[in-house]
Amino acid sequence: MADVGVVGAGTMGAGIAESAALAGMSVVVLDVGKDALDRGRRTVEKDLDRRVKKGRISEDERGETLNRISMTTSLKDLADAPLIVEAVVEDLDLKKKVFADLEGVVGADAVLASNTSSLSVAGIAAGATHPERVVGMHFFNPVPAMKLVEVVTGPSTAPEAVCRTEEVAEGLGKTPIRVSDTPGFVVNRVARPFYLEALRMVEAGGKPGEVDVALRGAGFRMGPLELADLIGMDVNLAVSESLFERYYYAPRFRPSFLQRSMVEAGTLGRKSGRGFYDYGGEGQGETGQGTEDTGEIALRVISCIVNEAFLTFSEGVATAEDIDQAMKLGANYPKGPFEWAEELGAETIVRKLDSMREAHGDAYLAAPLLRERAASGGETAR
Ligand SMILES: NC(=O)c1ccc[n+]([C@@H]2O[C@H](COP(=O)([O-])OP(=O)(O)OC[C@H]3O[C@@H](n4cnc5c(N)ncnc54)[C@H](O)[C@@H]3O)[C@@H](O)[C@H]2O)c1
Repeated sequence: MADVGVVGAGTMGAGIAESAALAGMSVVVLDVGKDALDRGRRTVEKDLDRRVKKGRISEDERGETLNRISMTTSLKDLADAPLIVEAVVEDLDLKKKVFADLEGVVGADAVLASNTSSLSVAGIAAGATHPERVVGMHFFNPVPAMKLVEVVTGPSTAPEAVCRTEEVAEGLGKTPIRVSDTPGFVVNRVARPFYLEALRMVEAGGKPGEVDVALRGAGFRMGPLELADLIGMDVNLAVSESLFERYYYAPRFRPSFLQRSMVEAGTLGRKSGRGFYDYGGEGQGETGQGTEDTGEIALRVISCIVNEAFLTFSEGVATAEDIDQAMKLGANYPKGPFEWAEELGAETIVRKLDSMREAHGDAYLAAPLLRERAASGGETAR
């Protein structure tokens, strides 16, 4: 009997299978054809080879890990798995069909989890015979290296399904946090200002190099613009557009015209050879005029991240501790937003947001709870 089933052997499915096998679990991976399964196996092999080279696992462990993963194109092979993670392409109708097919073969107690990033658990569970066993299990790329799993409770998800999913996440060596079924969950939502504010500064004439240096100086591993180049301008813009739409066009989520124009021009970042920086040689990032000093650049971006975290917490999406944990483990932030609020002072952050709002409008409206915290000298309960 398999400990875990995985549907989809792509980037995420292969990563989830590898993580489970590395943790000693037996895994069955389903995909539509042999080519997709072969690709998935090669993804796992490549990462295991890297681990052997780095001395993290032995050759024997590599072999044992691979032996714990079996691949199939037949749904029946998932029948006895107690938890199945769906990681097929991001398409609601396809996911609904996969869940309906799974419901036809799995046991009554099986938990069905989706790795969706941008669809709702509500939508995926709609039409399921047993929506109470449908849950979100949002992993981060690359799965074997990233510790965070957002466990998403949909409107019908049963508490037992949430607990079982958390147990499996812990068994995989991950840290699960509980989040409610809201657009972007925690990490993709709270991280959005990191990119959007940086893009706004460049639109206003700031130098990409200066913005990136300021944020690296504040402890981020990469600046937002070099990170956008790495992720791909098209992928990054698609996340922004999806959140903007799903938050009913809240001004703070408005995507960047500059980014859209870069996508239209094919300036996609590293994969196209040029984005904010030129990967063939010269740094495009060194053009333009500086607008704000380093400290102000970092304060502006961090203030918007903290504000989004307070809004997320106020809406009951996750606890403050979990939001801090999520941003450190899921986005590699040097500190959690609530830790920053404490360190910088809620008053400083509200002052920054208020001055930005005066100049640029409602995208910078401070979260009421953050303002309350500032007024009480940082004493508001978490
Ligand atoms: N890539 C990321 O960084 C990331 C991060 C978190 C979550 N996600 C989410 O994970 C899911 C998968 O993303 P990915 O990047 O691994 O995609 P991918 O395109 O790399 O892989 C998708 C796989 O699903 C397979 N597939 C398609 N239809 C299928 C079906 N009916 N049955 C079985 N397999 C089927 C495809 O053959 C392919 O191998 C998406 O929902 C995505 O939003 C992706």
